[in-house]
Amino acid sequence: MKLAISGKGGVGKTTLAALLAQVYADQGRDVLAVDADPAPCLAGALGFPDELRARLHPIAEMEGLIEERTGAKPGTVGGFFTINPRVDDIPERFSVVHRDVRLLEMGSVDLGGSGCICPESALLKTLFTHLLFRKDDVLILDMYAGVEHLGRATVDFVDAMIVVVEPTRRSLGTAAQIKGLAADIGLSRLWLVANKVRNEDEAAFVEAETPGIPVLGMLPADLAVQEADRLGIPVYDHVPALHDAALGIAGSLVAEGVS
Ligand SMILES: Nc1ncnc2c1ncn2[C@@H]1O[C@H](COP(=O)(O)OP(=O)(O)OP(=O)(O)O)[C@@H](O)[C@H]1O
Ligand SMILES: [Mg+2]
Repeated sequence: MKLAISGKGGVGKTTLAALLAQVYADQGRDVLAVDADPAPCLAGALGFPDELRARLHPIAEMEGLIEERTGAKPGTVGGFFTINPRVDDIPERFSVVHRDVRLLEMGSVDLGGSGCICPESALLKTLFTHLLFRKDDVLILDMYAGVEHLGRATVDFVDAMIVVVEPTRRSLGTAAQIKGLAADIGLSRLWLVANKVRNEDEAAFVEAETPGIPVLGMLPADLAVQEADRLGIPVYDHVPALHDAALGIAGSLVAEGVS
């Protein structure tokens, strides 16, 4: 199962990615979580200890690796380099595992047509396609805002794109934009998750104003989420309401045929 998590900045993509990764790991499944944000935060949200985090570096920033695999230094434009470098060993070699969640930091990835033709994007695109082809049991992609950077491979292999929103018109507007961009590339397996929902009125607002994306579930607003962040404890362990809601969302995915 391959899940991509998108949505406007700050809505809770990383929080949901971490919750779902731990839900599936605790169900005994093999989970690969991929942080595709240029400013990675997923390790923190999953409670990876410092010594493991020190071993994680975004692939996009590994200049030596990029040069070794493509034959050219990152930033080179116009020279010769391999456009299909070897990547199959990268997920295991450069990831770390904690509580049965394997985590890989990719850094900024532009998979759309607009990315530069340069060694680093050749390596990242090849790696991303490789991840989508791999027979991982569960792959969870924590994307950064929008889907502009998604390419065709994503469309063919992602089982569900989860768009996270807050109960605000602005974040639902972003969801509508994401839906449009997804439609442009032929991606229709989209579901909405509302986060930071404070009461029934807000839940009803999301249901009424969804831009035609089915609502998979809702996560309540809870001050303990920020407390967990301050204490460095995963939300999964510290906030029962979010833990339970994440279990519910995993269950809804099964009901939608995504498992
Ligand atoms: N249910 C919630 N209740 C209260 N606070 C929340 C909740 N979910 C997330 N937050 C807080 O909102 C902030 C943003 O969450 P998160 O980092 O998961 O969002 P994001 O969409 O990944 O952000 P970015 O776009 O920067 O990657 C964090 O400070 C987090 O603690
Ligand atoms: Mg994030």
